Amino acid sequence: MTPWNPHTWQRFPAEQQPVYPDPTALEAVLARLRRLPPLVVPEEVDRLRGLLAEAAAGRRFLLQGGDCAERFQDCTPDAIEGKLRVLLQMSVALTHGGRKPVVRVGRIAGQFAKPRSRPTEFVRGQELPSYRGDLVNALEATPDARRPDPDRMLEAYFHAAATLNHLRALTAGGFADLHHPERWELPGGTGEVPAYHRTLDQVRESLDFLEALGGVQREALERIDFFTSHEALLLPYEAALTRWVPEAGAYYHLGAHTLWVGERTRQLDGAHLEYLRGLRNPLGVKVGPSATPEQVQTLLARLDPAREPGRITLITRFGAARIREALPPLLRAVQAAGHPVLWSCDPMHGNGAESAQGLKTRDFDAILAELRQAFELHGAAGSTLGGVHFELTGEAVTECTGGTQRLSEADLAKAYETGCDPRLNRAQSLEMAFLIAGMMRG
Ligand code: PEP
Ligand code: CO
Repeated sequence: MTPWNPHTWQRFPAEQQPVYPDPTALEAVLARLRRLPPLVVPEEVDRLRGLLAEAAAGRRFLLQGGDCAERFQDCTPDAIEGKLRVLLQMSVALTHGGRKPVVRVGRIAGQFAKPRSRPTEFVRGQELPSYRGDLVNALEATPDARRPDPDRMLEAYFHAAATLNHLRALTAGGFADLHHPERWELPGGTGEVPAYHRTLDQVRESLDFLEALGGVQREALERIDFFTSHEALLLPYEAALTRWVPEAGAYYHLGAHTLWVGERTRQLDGAHLEYLRGLRNPLGVKVGPSATPEQVQTLLARLDPAREPGRITLITRFGAARIREALPPLLRAVQAAGHPVLWSCDPMHGNGAESAQGLKTRDFDAILAELRQAFELHGAAGSTLGGVHFELTGEAVTECTGGTQRLSEADLAKAYETGCDPRLNRAQSLEMAFLIAGMMRG
């Protein structure tokens, strides 16, 4: 392999990059970012790699989720606590029902950039640069707002730091302790997701029993692992958060525990793969219908030459209508190449739809149908589905149709808040977790 450093990607074609009008201002921001402290430490990254290796072997289950794109304005205690709470609630449902410990990874504290299908769009007859996420420009449809601004990278770093700081304080401070009913109950009351209340009661009874036996340490329940992730999209930003770790003799990205490369930027000869291959972090790769078995084999040879468990999570996102034909050939190709990957299913990005009113949405049943098929197809191929990847929020938004609340297309306008893709709301997410737990038991 050719030598690598955090800048070798610059010699490769990079998709989805904005053009900054002032290169001097850009360089000043990057220089500042390189001097700021890392957001995570290598030991945490190594620990996550180990947990993902166990998930790949079927002994744990990965739950990855959060917003499609975080916005700076949503960096509030309520929004952060809501997302953490729903992920913890889902992981209780998955652990209890699926009988496996859950590895929790948020799409959070850095998920600020979005790939776009077109570099520009027309708004009221005017051609404007597309919104690429708060890391790059602003959503407001004016030429000023849409101009790429490098200062946004610093803002992103500080918003990520504030978000992560709050998450760390919550997870270290007993937020996850099941003995605090106010943190675990659903605001909608017992009717919202009935299975959840039964589970919570059972979990609490088991805990009381174990505590009575002296079998569990209170601290073990109060402290939980929670990891962060985002799409590695804006390469100058990611490179500036990359650090040499002498003890490990390796480069780590220390702006998040794990990064993934998106469906639109995983070209074999592209800059994103070149950047990612040199990192010690565990890496995710989104794989959609356009991926051929040979491409996936070449990609794995590039990113995982050592065939290391925990290194690569392949996140398939075919859509309910295509997974049956698309997944099996990839399963065979990866088995033949001998990479011990963790397979995860993103049932969101292949199931986009447009409502009659013109809103981007996704239907609960389509999401579920892709997941069911993923479990079946892995089972039939002697493979393991070891994780799931969701766009979700802790708030009571109305962006996806269906679920126990039976949201219809007409309901979507009530609380449609996403700046990007539609997310499962709290009740839909939790209901989904129970259904997944059932599939995990087979
Ligand atoms: C995403 O995860 O928000 C995304 C854009 O996914 P994909 O690259 O799979 O389309
Ligand atoms: Co998305």
